[in-house]
Amino acid sequence: MKNTVLTLQQAKKENKKITMLTAYDYSTARLMDEAGVNMLLVGDSLGNVVLGYEDTVSVTMEDMIHHGAAVARGAKNAMVVVDMPFMSYQTSVYDAVVNAGRLMKEARANAVKLEGGVNVAEQIKAIVAAGIPVVAHIGLTPQSVNVFGGHKVQGKTEAAAKKLIMDADAVQAAGAFAVVIEGVPARLAALITGRMDIPTIGIGAGAGCDGQVLVYQDMLGMYADFTPKFVKKFANVGEVMKAAFRQYIEEVNSGAFPSEEHCYAIDDEIMELLQ
Ligand code: KIV
Repeated sequence: MKNTVLTLQQAKKENKKITMLTAYDYSTARLMDEAGVNMLLVGDSLGNVVLGYEDTVSVTMEDMIHHGAAVARGAKNAMVVVDMPFMSYQTSVYDAVVNAGRLMKEARANAVKLEGGVNVAEQIKAIVAAGIPVVAHIGLTPQSVNVFGGHKVQGKTEAAAKKLIMDADAVQAAGAFAVVIEGVPARLAALITGRMDIPTIGIGAGAGCDGQVLVYQDMLGMYADFTPKFVKKFANVGEVMKAAFRQYIEEVNSGAFPSEEHCYAIDDEIMELLQ
């Protein structure tokens, strides 16, 4: 069954957990879709795990459209959410609507995600008014890494926790249909989840959220540059890949690959004519 804004809201009402994973290409999107993941996030974490930048700041609209369209082609039932990159919505409400529209039309996203709370409520309101579903993202918002002074857990003091609650209220009031909560103490995320009508999707925010999201290279052990405390490795695919790459090198060098089963045949008579 296709995951939509309505089915995800229903999941919250029925206390059913929502699963989201990042995806950046067609074949991975297909595997996740076939496994039954509810939502595929074409995250701007693309900048780190696919493009090799040290943060998400350099990611462009063109990057998001290119990868978003590939994921959308691979997703049958999963809802495809595409991140709005840094400076594609912060600059003005007008820019936010135009760029959200491009992600819908050119990447064929089902929804867009943007970072911020009270400070982007006007943008969310305008994008939703244009008929585009919005996922908000509060707490540790990686596009603001330079303001935070690093990837720091958010909401730990009374003032910071109250600000986070205000951000959650603001994005819900502005019309977001779901909110990602990142890098926040588990009890605070659970408290926010309990106050909200829309689903919360946590990453480093504990089990009390309505759903969970992880970067797939992190959960498969494929990205070693930086592993946050909240990541669980569900498989060590990175080691499996390296072992396969090493075996490939060995077999090419020894001549064991390609063997006859991997070669195309030609009739002897044709070969004789060529001597
Ligand atoms: O870009 C991303 O992958 C994200 C997740 C970490 C939620 O925003």
